[in-house]
Amino acid sequence: MSENNRLPKFPDSYIGDKAKEYNNSNWMERNQKKTTLLCIQYLYDTKLDLLSTQDFLEDKEYIILDLGCGTGFSSEVLAESGFRVIGVDILKDMLYKAKFKAKDCSNYNSVHYILADINYLPLKENSIDHVISVSAYNFIVSEKRELGDKLKTLNIVATTIHKILKQAGRVVIEFYPKDEKELELFTSSFKKNNFNGFIVKSNLKQKSGQQFLLLKKK
Ligand SMILES: C[S@@+](CC[C@H](N)C(=O)[O-])C[C@H]1O[C@@H](n2cnc3c(N)ncnc32)[C@H](O)[C@@H]1O
Repeated sequence: MSENNRLPKFPDSYIGDKAKEYNNSNWMERNQKKTTLLCIQYLYDTKLDLLSTQDFLEDKEYIILDLGCGTGFSSEVLAESGFRVIGVDILKDMLYKAKFKAKDCSNYNSVHYILADINYLPLKENSIDHVISVSAYNFIVSEKRELGDKLKTLNIVATTIHKILKQAGRVVIEFYPKDEKELELFTSSFKKNNFNGFIVKSNLKQKSGQQFLLLKKK
């Protein structure tokens, strides 16, 4: 079986019993939380400082948008790290589990979950400090077959993220592009839409697989 055949499918892997299975999996929780901690580390990456003159001020009052928040593993880590969090997910089966868990959480007031599509983010301009997305961003083009449709979607989302971010806002996306071509599509959609940035690979031997995109609003 190729690596990509083992990757979860959207939406089948996240509805009904699959959503329950996802939320109850200790392995998944550990994995998502570990990756989110890495994303927080990348958010503070000093190489991003060199990309413009705007300084990155350490401020725990930052509002972080968690794109494709699922059942909230990543959002929980962000809230526990002291950030204010807006988690967005398109599937009720996933998001309602996140909301349910948040009720018992001491950081309840720091997290807001919104049922919405990453492609149509219902957020105001200049309202978000930084964006993270863990294991979700590749799904925004999963139903698009034509290259033109993929490009259109990626450009719209990159433009929207640019609008809702405050000045010098940062974006860290951990995702699984299908191949090198798709990785290039994702990267260039941000570069064409006023972001600077670069890719970090966790495993240099992988041709595709897990990638981290580190970006900063110009
Ligand atoms: C691997 S899961 C969630 C990972 C999340 N980091 C967590 O901690 O649980 C990926 C999520 O992306 C969501 N998703 C996929 N496409 C989406 C879209 N267009 N808009 C919003 N959410 C989307 C799915 O519903 C799913 O819950």
